[in-house]
Amino acid sequence: MFQELVHAKDFKTYLDQVDFPTYPANLYDPIRYILSLAGKRIRPSLVAMGTALFDETKIASSLPAATAIEYFHNFSLIHDDIMDKAPLRRGKPTVHQKWNDSVAILSGDALLVKAYEELAKCPVENMVALLRLFNKTALEVCEGQQLDMDFEDREWVSETEYIEMIRLKTSVLLGCALQMGAIIAQANNEAQTLLYEFGVNLGIAFQLQDDLLDVYGNPETFGKQIGGDILSNKKTILFVKLKELVNDEDALLLEQLLVDGSEDKIRKMKALYTKYDIETLAVLQKEKFTAIAYEKLAHIAVAQDKKAALYGLADALMHRVQ
Ligand code: IPE
Ligand code: IPE
Ligand code: MG
Ligand code: MG
Ligand code: MG
Repeated sequence: MFQELVHAKDFKTYLDQVDFPTYPANLYDPIRYILSLAGKRIRPSLVAMGTALFDETKIASSLPAATAIEYFHNFSLIHDDIMDKAPLRRGKPTVHQKWNDSVAILSGDALLVKAYEELAKCPVENMVALLRLFNKTALEVCEGQQLDMDFEDREWVSETEYIEMIRLKTSVLLGCALQMGAIIAQANNEAQTLLYEFGVNLGIAFQLQDDLLDVYGNPETFGKQIGGDILSNKKTILFVKLKELVNDEDALLLEQLLVDGSEDKIRKMKALYTKYDIETLAVLQKEKFTAIAYEKLAHIAVAQDKKAALYGLADALMHRVQ
C-alpha cells in the first residue's frame, strides 16, 4: 500500500540519484543501510501531497524538501534506536546493533547534515519559510524525545502530558512535511495552518497506532521488537489508560512490573491490558484524533476531489500493520 503512495515513484527516482561517499565506510555505510531498508516513506509523500493539493505543476520542486524530511526522519530513527536500546528496525538489525553506538551517533549526525544539504536545494523564494519551519520542528522532536525518556523514570504520566509528548516527538514532523509542501506551492497562510493541523492530528493517531502495534503487532510485518515499550517502561497510551483504571491490587502489581527485569514482564503487562480492555480505549483515542484530522482537511478551501489522496492516506495509516 505505502509503496504505491502518490508521488512515491518521483521521490524514489530522486532519492536514487543522491550519492553518498564510500569512505570512511563506517560513516556512510550505515546511512546507505538505513535508507536502503526504506520503510513506508510516508513523510516525503506528505511533502509532495502538500504541494500537489495546491499546485500539481510544482511537485518536482518539492523533492529536495521531501528528501530532507526523510533524511531527518532516518537520522532520528538511528538515534532513537540507541536511546530505546532497540534491536530491530524495518525487520533488520538496528544501526547501533550492526555496528556500535559511536558509529550510530556519528552516522546519524552526518545524515542530519545531509538533510540540510537537501534543504539548501529548495526553491530560493521559499527558503527562509522552509528553514524556519524545519528548525522549529526539529527542535520540537528533540523536546518530545527528551520527554519520552524522562517519562520512563516516572510512575505516572497524565494523558495530557502523554499527548503533548507524542505531538512533539512524532506528530509535528508529519505536519511540517505537509506544510513544507504547501509553502512550495505558495498556498495561503490559512490553508497552510489547516494542513499543518491535519498533519499533527494525523500524527497523533499515527503514534497511538505505533503504541498499539508495539504490543499487538505482528513482528513479521511491523519489523520492530514486539513489547519493546513494555520492557523500557515507556509511558504509552496503553500504560497511561491502564494506570487510570487499575484497582488497588493491580496498582501494586503494576508498580512491581516497572521494576521487573524479566522477559515475563511483557506477558504480565499484556494480561493487565486485556483485563481492563485497554486496547479498545486506545483504538477509540486513535479514532478521535483521526476524526479531528479529517475535519481540518475538510475546511481547506480546495476542491474536495483534490483531497482524496490525503483522505486515503489517513485511512490507510489508521489501519496500518507496518
Ligand atoms: C517510526 O516511523 C517512528 C515513529 C514516529 C513511530 P514510521 O513508522 O514512519 O517508520 P518507517 O520510516 O516507515 O520505517
Ligand atoms: C519515535 O517514537 C519518535 C522518533 C523517532 C522521533 P518510538 O520510539 O515509539 O518509535 P519506534 O517505535 O522506535 O519506531
Ligand atoms: Mg523507538
Ligand atoms: Mg523512542
Ligand atoms: Mg514505538
